[in-house]
Amino acid sequence: MLQKDVKLDNICKTWLLEKHIDFLKSFGKERNQYESNMMEFLRMSGMYWGLTALHLINNGQIPKEEEIFEYIKSCEHNNGGYSPAPGHDPHLLYTLSAVQIACLLNRESELPIEKIVQYVSSLQLKDGSFTGDKWGEIDTRYSFCALACLSLLGKLNEIDLAKSVEFIKSCQNFDGGFGSRPGAESHGGLIYCCVGALSIAGRLDIVDADTLGWWLAERQLPSGGLNGRPEKLPDVCYSWWVFSTLNILGRDHWIDKEQLKNFILASQDNEGGGFSDRPGDEPDPFHTLFGIAALSLMSYDKILPIDPTYCLPKTVINRLGLKPQTLS
Ligand code: FPP
Ligand code: ZN
Repeated sequence: MLQKDVKLDNICKTWLLEKHIDFLKSFGKERNQYESNMMEFLRMSGMYWGLTALHLINNGQIPKEEEIFEYIKSCEHNNGGYSPAPGHDPHLLYTLSAVQIACLLNRESELPIEKIVQYVSSLQLKDGSFTGDKWGEIDTRYSFCALACLSLLGKLNEIDLAKSVEFIKSCQNFDGGFGSRPGAESHGGLIYCCVGALSIAGRLDIVDADTLGWWLAERQLPSGGLNGRPEKLPDVCYSWWVFSTLNILGRDHWIDKEQLKNFILASQDNEGGGFSDRPGDEPDPFHTLFGIAALSLMSYDKILPIDPTYCLPKTVINRLGLKPQTLS
């Protein structure tokens, strides 16, 4: 089988903590105004990525908390959904991001919880699947968003959970993995979504942990990095999608952690901080969160512990009294 990979020779792998803090604090400010406008369509998620990463490496400290909460409020819609920026359409992805940010700020109880619940449950279809918004695209990533969002608000009982699980099961493939819809190929990102949703639902019993664990462990390449599917290049974000799933399944020792750390550290930007998808590319908050989050799962340096199911700090998940299922 064709294997694509990168070479890590002569790449600096020193942990650049202070630079990452500076990178995350300055993102979205004047320095990045141009990119910031270009990225308006996903700003709410961008804030979740950046703030979660900052929380993990900055002793749980997030600056400008009031301003951030005001921003969330400015993206609220009458139907209970949230948009990525004011004036855009609401979507389940950004509704989850808004709830995640509110949880990080310990202010989820100030959200219009009943309206959010109504919005999320209105997106569930008869077969248990979820659409992302009123336009009707079905994808297992939205199943994760719905279950994560409602469970963070203590409202998981407001949807048909058994049907949600049934739909996810219908997306399971012969290789143990999951895709976006029934019959779609297994994909690292969607496997995280499906296993994460099953972990929230307490239904990991339907996963074939050995077969799936094998497929996930096969994602590690000689560089130490993980890819999302066979024949793809390694990418730092799959250090989260794939590795956190192995962690949930109790099989994270099936890959070489030292090699994975090495690949993630090689993907730092030595100049301005932050992480990119792979060594030498431009850093961004998305890959910065997932690089730091994967390092957290490997107890690296003083990074605060993260929950593998919710991708939020453990302290937040404990405060909410949530106990997502994991296997040993
Ligand atoms: C790769 O997508 C990633 C995924 C499919 C996972 C998406 C995950 C969510 C929407 C859940 C988000 C929530 C948390 C807590 C992190 P891609 O389209 O970039 O895939 P490619 O690498 O194949 O291009
Ligand atoms: Zn990526």
